[in-house]
Amino acid sequence: IRIFVPGDAGALAVGADKVAGALVSEAAKRGLDIEIVRNGSRGMFWLEPMVEVETEKGRVAYGPVKSSDVPGLLDAGLTDGGSHALNLGLTEEIDFLKRQTRLTFARCGITDPLSLEDYRAHGGLKGLEQAIAMTPLDIVTQVTDSGLRGRGGAGFPTGIKWKTVLDAQGAQKYIVCNADEGDSGTFADRMIMEGDPFVLIEGMVIAGIATGATKGYVYTRSEYPHAIAAMNSAIEIARKNNVLGVSVLNSGHAFDMEVRVGAGAYVCGEETALLESLEGRRGIVRAKPPLPAHKGFLGRPTVINNVISLASVPVIMEKGAAFYKDFGMGRSRGTIPIQIAGNARHGGLFEAAFGMTLGELVDDVAGGTITGQPVKAVQVGGPLGAYFPRALFDTPFDYEEFAARDGLIGHAGIVVFDDSVDMLDQARFAMEFCAIESCGKCTPCRIGSTRGVEVADKIRRGEEPEKQLALLTDLCNTMKFGSLCALGGFTPYPVMSAINHFPEDFRPVPMSQA
Ligand code: NAI
Ligand code: SF4
Repeated sequence: IRIFVPGDAGALAVGADKVAGALVSEAAKRGLDIEIVRNGSRGMFWLEPMVEVETEKGRVAYGPVKSSDVPGLLDAGLTDGGSHALNLGLTEEIDFLKRQTRLTFARCGITDPLSLEDYRAHGGLKGLEQAIAMTPLDIVTQVTDSGLRGRGGAGFPTGIKWKTVLDAQGAQKYIVCNADEGDSGTFADRMIMEGDPFVLIEGMVIAGIATGATKGYVYTRSEYPHAIAAMNSAIEIARKNNVLGVSVLNSGHAFDMEVRVGAGAYVCGEETALLESLEGRRGIVRAKPPLPAHKGFLGRPTVINNVISLASVPVIMEKGAAFYKDFGMGRSRGTIPIQIAGNARHGGLFEAAFGMTLGELVDDVAGGTITGQPVKAVQVGGPLGAYFPRALFDTPFDYEEFAARDGLIGHAGIVVFDDSVDMLDQARFAMEFCAIESCGKCTPCRIGSTRGVEVADKIRRGEEPEKQLALLTDLCNTMKFGSLCALGGFTPYPVMSAINHFPEDFRPVPMSQA
């Protein structure tokens, strides 16, 4: 019997290794012949560790499984354990999964992440084979026509970025994958690196062929040890099988890559600070221009793309630009892996075409809060994203629609808060986060964030609250327009959205209640 027990960090954190160990020892006791595959996560984290068993009808899921549940599961008979309390039925029929459109995450949780045979058997390398048969310009055109925009947060058209690098002169060009996933409540990059690392490798090789780059780096953070291990092993396997090397799949194109690990400063996810760190210096933001596409790693033309942008390229090359572009709305084309976190009943990864409303995602897909209390606010786009109240739940998931309501999609993380949250605290937290993570290069961010914390504290203490609120708004304007990068420039989003949508939380606490 083939049994799947995720090796994803999220599943490991809740005891997946113990469950795998218990399955091995219990099966041995009973003389059962089982094969355990450590797959990636399907992204339904409230069900982890979710164990799947291969049956004639498809995979049957059980979860959340504890090691102490294992004897009972084996007693029930794994392949037809219909009556067991943890039986979730066929995995593919679970509502949260069934409602998704999995293009980038098509294989995640299904395949053995480190089996290249499995990867090929599930459509892997078809995009690369297509790309090899095309000219670099045709590949770039295909990516441009697909409408793919940078999934790291800024939403810049990927094909246009690649065209800039293709056209740039340089004896050496680079592909840098930004895997320094630092947004609160996000885990899509990590899940791909752990659950389907070959798709990222394939995307990077295609980017290399398209732009003339022969070397790639995956820059990630030390907090992601499982992703680092999976990527390193996958790169080794790809090299042995000629997916990486001097002549990729005997095409004559050379491409090799390696993983580089940073210490986990938030600002190192900003592309120029990332380059500084990659070059061995402290992560401090560089002024733009020059764009990294012109002068990036070691001063050479460099594509810097997020994990999800690169991992979306193979399916675009395999199925064509029109196929991908067909999903989505407005200028937001294709699918987006939405990461649901915080006080959500069903937290996890939900890949869907752009266009679902925030309300559908929070109330319907996530099932409201885990505490059962009403949802008060949702922060979309990481710690620099705006807080959305219920009144804005009709906003569709789309770059422009969010921007029109003073918000951002960012890396598509949504963090749910119930009615116990205090929005003045959250505004203070945004300023404090900025103060801690600031690289210190520019004054509005370095000093403004610390002043912002002080002003929030004065409002809390009821010291001239109206004056302090005006000061906080003024400070936000200075930071928004005077900061060099998104860290200082976007901190006003959570602060101002908290002030504008939840003004009642910015009144001082009467002395009698303080
Ligand atoms: P940006 O708008 O300055 O740049 C977007 C990208 O387009 C950059 O890679 C830039 O080099 C490139 N670009 C712009 N014009 C170009 C041209 N003509 N040719 C080629 N390339 C060109 O945005 P930035 O500062 O890079 O990113 C800000 C975003 O980062 C925010 O929206 C935020 O959501 C996101 N973010 C994501 C985090 C994460 O964990 N993924 C963490 C923090 C912020
Ligand atoms: Fe550094 Fe903040 Fe200025 Fe960005 S805004 S360059 S993080 S000081």
